[in-house]
Amino acid sequence: MAQLWGGRFTKETDQLVYNFNASISFDKRFYAQDIRGSIAHVMMLARQGILTDIEKEKIIDGLEGILSDVTNGKLQISDRYEDIHSFVEATLIDRIGDPGKKLHTGRSRNDQVALDMKLYTRDEVHIMDNLIEELLQAILSIMEENTETYMPGFTHLQKAQPITLAHHMGAYFEMFKRDHERLQDIYKRMNTCPLGSGALAGTTYPLDREYTASLLGFDGPTLNSMDGVSDRDYLLELLSALSIIMMHLSRFSEEVIIWNSNEYKFVEIDDAYSTGSSIMPQKKNPDIAELVRGKTGRVYGALNALLTTMKGIPLAYNKDMQEDKEWAFDAIDTAKGCLTLFTGMLRTMQFNKERMKDSARHGFTNATDAADYLVNHGVPFRDAHGIVGQLVLLCIEKKIALDELPLEEYQKISPVFEEDIYDAISLETCVNKRITLGAPGKMAMEEVIAVYQKYMDEY
Ligand code: ARG
Repeated sequence: MAQLWGGRFTKETDQLVYNFNASISFDKRFYAQDIRGSIAHVMMLARQGILTDIEKEKIIDGLEGILSDVTNGKLQISDRYEDIHSFVEATLIDRIGDPGKKLHTGRSRNDQVALDMKLYTRDEVHIMDNLIEELLQAILSIMEENTETYMPGFTHLQKAQPITLAHHMGAYFEMFKRDHERLQDIYKRMNTCPLGSGALAGTTYPLDREYTASLLGFDGPTLNSMDGVSDRDYLLELLSALSIIMMHLSRFSEEVIIWNSNEYKFVEIDDAYSTGSSIMPQKKNPDIAELVRGKTGRVYGALNALLTTMKGIPLAYNKDMQEDKEWAFDAIDTAKGCLTLFTGMLRTMQFNKERMKDSARHGFTNATDAADYLVNHGVPFRDAHGIVGQLVLLCIEKKIALDELPLEEYQKISPVFEEDIYDAISLETCVNKRITLGAPGKMAMEEVIAVYQKYMDEY
């Protein structure tokens, strides 16, 4: 047991209590952020005359040595220490002696941990945002190549109207674009520095909080020291943004699973992203998509857990808050893994374009357009709906598509039909007549793709 606070105690901590209380097994993950924060703190202390320049140099040298030794594996972070802060401070004192004892001047572990977690999260938001960028780029590439790849659009998982693969992918582009913007928004709101909040009530030392904040790349210091040490809103915002990202990925995964099924065969997942069965030799399973769909539960769980942990905590710091870390780490790791794997799977996935087109042709996805044809020839929509309904029934009996039904059959049901009905209900026409902004028609789609290209250039 190695603690920073033995002075007022007359007994050793019970070993079980010590283990229950310690956080080093998980907070060692942000050793680099802890050291970065300490270096900024020391620079500020020296600038304010609280430390001498010599002390500053010694401490910074010592901290940099610890940082590189841990990073290179020369120094192990030992679980003997209560937390990462104690480990760094004790190692520093071991290495440089007395000046090391001044590191914690004007600081508490409460503002220190608040800072470390923010620095760590800020770095991770950045990484996450890059992964979203790669996913958006992969989606956009598919869009650019598939403005004429026809497929059925579904409602209720029933074939509804024809669309294109570009259009379908565009819906996901929109979702992940919002996710990117959500992350940016969180970053903006969280980018204030809690260091200098002390345990809860600031400190009596003349700290320059503006300076430390700027050294660490924050927009400025937090403005209330009690909130500074006990705010975890940004983590909740991040976990909710990650939950929404996972929700989007799970919808996309579900579609990939359906499209990859033997019945649909719209896509073929690359061998490198599929798995086999130990007993059924013919199997090629979409495990990655299923796992991404499944792991969504974990991230939702983290959000719910932290919301529940934070509920009802009185001001300011309370130990409950130590529980923020494992949830946040797990959710961040999970979302990063899922984004990476999903993007790889998407990039290597083959689209069976003939099969998609065939599915659109044989699912009466052009029935609305056949009704519109009648309406354009003066038939009231409600009557047109009924007429096309009869045609669909006839085609179902004959097991053919609407565009395979001979003109005489059309005319038996309504004399309004002429030879040009075939052109009016071809997939190309059905899609390309839909040119309002946001619709699948090639012209509308190209306009939107240009907007997305610009968006990615400015990402
Ligand atoms: N391990 C603690 C945490 O993660 C660090 C802060 C400890 N502060 C304290 N007063 N016990 O929250």
